[in-house]
Parts: sequence; structure tokens; C-alpha cells
Amino acid sequence: MKNLSNKKILFIICGGISAYKSLETIRILKKNGAIIKTILTESAKEFVTPLSITSLSQGKVYYNLFSVENEAEMDHISLSRWADVILIAPATANTISKLAQGITNDLASTVVLASDKDIFLAPAMNVRMWEHLTTKLNLKKIEEFGYKTIGPEIGDMACGEYGEGKMSEPLKIAKEIDDYFLGKINNKKFKALITAGPTNEYIDPVRFITNKSSGKQGYELAKSLSKKGFDTTLISGPTNLKINDEINLIKVETADEMLIATQENLPVDVAIFSAAVADFKINKTFKNKIKKQDNFNLNLEKNLDILNYVSNHNSMRPKMVIGFAAETNEIVKNAEEKLNKKNCDWIISNDVSNKDIGFNSDYNEVTIHYKNKDLIREKLSYKKKSEISDEIVDRIIHQLK
Ligand code: PMT
Repeated sequence: MKNLSNKKILFIICGGISAYKSLETIRILKKNGAIIKTILTESAKEFVTPLSITSLSQGKVYYNLFSVENEAEMDHISLSRWADVILIAPATANTISKLAQGITNDLASTVVLASDKDIFLAPAMNVRMWEHLTTKLNLKKIEEFGYKTIGPEIGDMACGEYGEGKMSEPLKIAKEIDDYFLGKINNKKFKALITAGPTNEYIDPVRFITNKSSGKQGYELAKSLSKKGFDTTLISGPTNLKINDEINLIKVETADEMLIATQENLPVDVAIFSAAVADFKINKTFKNKIKKQDNFNLNLEKNLDILNYVSNHNSMRPKMVIGFAAETNEIVKNAEEKLNKKNCDWIISNDVSNKDIGFNSDYNEVTIHYKNKDLIREKLSYKKKSEISDEIVDRIIHQLK
């Protein structure tokens, strides 16, 4: 990890059983050259002591919003300005909820609200708390603020249950922060475009043909690209998903609109086509709502293939063109036919006959099919779409360089 040297990290530790992992996280960050100041929430002091943290971080521990001593040395506003990045680990359900509501009743929440720096959270909580709709909505909200989450992971929990909610391991957290700084330095010059979600092809003003794509895979890819420093444009079909302001979001409805938005946003260095674009549109959309009738035939005509258009563009073909293939059978054969036919550099296939992956799931399992590489294909095993996206983007960065 070469990118942490002299980076100022404000490390907020909240009160949870995994607070013990924060000590190891501090040790790794420190070993790699980061400068650390720490804030302990009131309940975090029940799990780790200020003395153990000061010994490891070799920096001051702050915990009281109304401490004369703290405010005289570095007030809470200066503390938030001092940091290059803020890391909250473990981020408890309580802290996530406070950040989502803008509640500032202690030093940690006040500093975060007063900060204009990037904020990383490593959530950790019981699986039921993690799965509760309140937590989901709070997370959605803070992600819209641009806060970035690391984990949590699936596994055995301290409370004896099994499931999602374990704090990510210290090494993974440190690596994410390292990647973030790497991205800031190296990838700013790269432009990325990504299509996501379904398209709606209108029959009449109130009816349309669509598909089951939620846009989750494409949105996660956009987040990974942006997190790693890419100047990112996301062209999205209709979805309920939200994304932070750093990403240039263009909302479209039909395949024709997606094509125009794509054309208008070239040139880019890398273009990823994860959208499930309707292959057909209605030959002539009815101006008025169609009346009920016994038989009705629809005339369909082919939509232009956006991926094919971009990958064969004479002057504006991106350095990397990556397509997706949603397959139900003969996955390798079909995906590799698309790789060649659509003139892509990579095709990423997913088996959408499995309802736990692909369409609308938070998880995926994909194979990257490479064109001009010794390695013909590479499988990325079953994991969250956010993690699949990080792994794909790491490979893109490697290839672009
Ligand atoms: O959105 P989620 O719910 O998260 O689900 C993710 C996903 C399953 C939709 C995604 O992982 C995926 O596989 N996307 C591609 C779906 C698809 O329509 O594949 P396809 O085999 O029909 O098309 C092949 C490629 O051509 C795709 O990159 C597609 O974006 C592109 N295409 C297709 C038709 C068209 N008119 N224009 C295109 O650009």
C-alpha cells in the first residue's frame, strides 16, 4: 500500500463489539505512513480505551464536544478540515441513523456534518439490524450524500447469529482507503461512460415493454469508477436508485434516448454497457390509449445496438469497450459470440437463469471474457454487486495503464 504515506485520516470509532478491529486498522494504516487522529464516541470507550489507541496511532484521541482542552488545541471545525479523509469504523446502526438525519449531538456526528471531505464507513451490526428497512433507508440516504461504504461481510457474528453485518477486515479497509488515494492521483484523467437499467418501449401513452433490470449492477459500477477517480457519466434507464452528485447522471427512458445520450457523451476512455436495452421497439407508438379489443398485433422493429455502434465508431471508439451478456444457457459460447460480433474488448457474462444473481439481485457472479489476452476468461465468484464492480474496475485500471 503505497498511497497512504502522509495522508491525514480522521478515524471515528463507534461503540460496537468490532471496535477491537479498529486497533488493527490503525496499526496497518500507521505502518503504511498515514497520520491518524481519532475520535471515540461515548459508547466506543466501553470497548476500546483512549490509551490503547494513542499508543498505536501516536496521535491524540478526541471524544468530548464540549472539552475546553480539545477546543483550545483543535476545535471541531478545524478537526474536520484537518483530515484528507474521514473513516468511521465500526459504523453502528445508531451512528448511520444520526448521519442520515443530520443529528449532531456528539463530537463525531458534529465533525462529520461540518466536513467537506470524503467519508468512508465500515458498518458493523447484528444481521437483523442490518436487514431492517430503517438501516437500508438510512444507508441509501448517506450514499446519496456521497459517503462510501466498505462491507459489511457475511459470517458468524459475536451475538451468535450468522449473516451479513460483520465489519470488514482491517486489511480490506486499509486497502480501500489506499485505492481511494491511488484513484485520486492516477485516474482523474480517465473518463468513463456506463449504461444501466432497463429501457421502456412505449406501445401507447400508458403502456410499454420493459424487462426486469433494476440498474443495480450498473450503478455499482459507476460508484466504483467514481470512487477510484474516474470522471464518470451514468446513462440510466428508469430505476428507483439514487447516486451521489460526483457522478454525472443522465436519466433516459427509451433505447433511442439512451443511444442519443451515449452519442452526446463521447469520447471517453472506457465505456461499459450493463443496460438491458430492449432489442425491439414498437414500430409506431399509438398516440392515444388503445381501446380494449379481442385481438391485437404489435409491429416491432429492431432498436439500434448502442454497444455495437460505439465499438465500431471510427473516430470516437473508447480505448476500452466492455459489454455485458445476460445468458440463460450455453453461456460461454453465447458470450464469446457477442464478444466478437459486437467488437468488444471484454464481455462480462452472467447466468440470469439463477434468480440469486443477475437481474434485481444485490449479488452477482460473472465471467469476464477477454479479447486479446493470454487469459481467455476469468470468473469472479458470487459476491455483492458492489464488490464485483470494484474487482472489474481494478482490472480496467490495470488495462488502461
Ligand atoms: O440491472 P440489474 O438488475 O442489476 O441486472 C444486471 C444485468 C443482469 C442487467 C446486467 O448484469 C447485464 O447482464 N446486462 C446486459 C443485459 C443484456 O441485455 O444483455 P444482452 O445480451 O441482451 O446484450 C448484450 C450487450 O449489448 C449488453 O452490453 C447490452 O447493454 C448491449 N446492448 C443490447 C441491445 C441494444 N440495443 N443496445 C445495447 O447496447
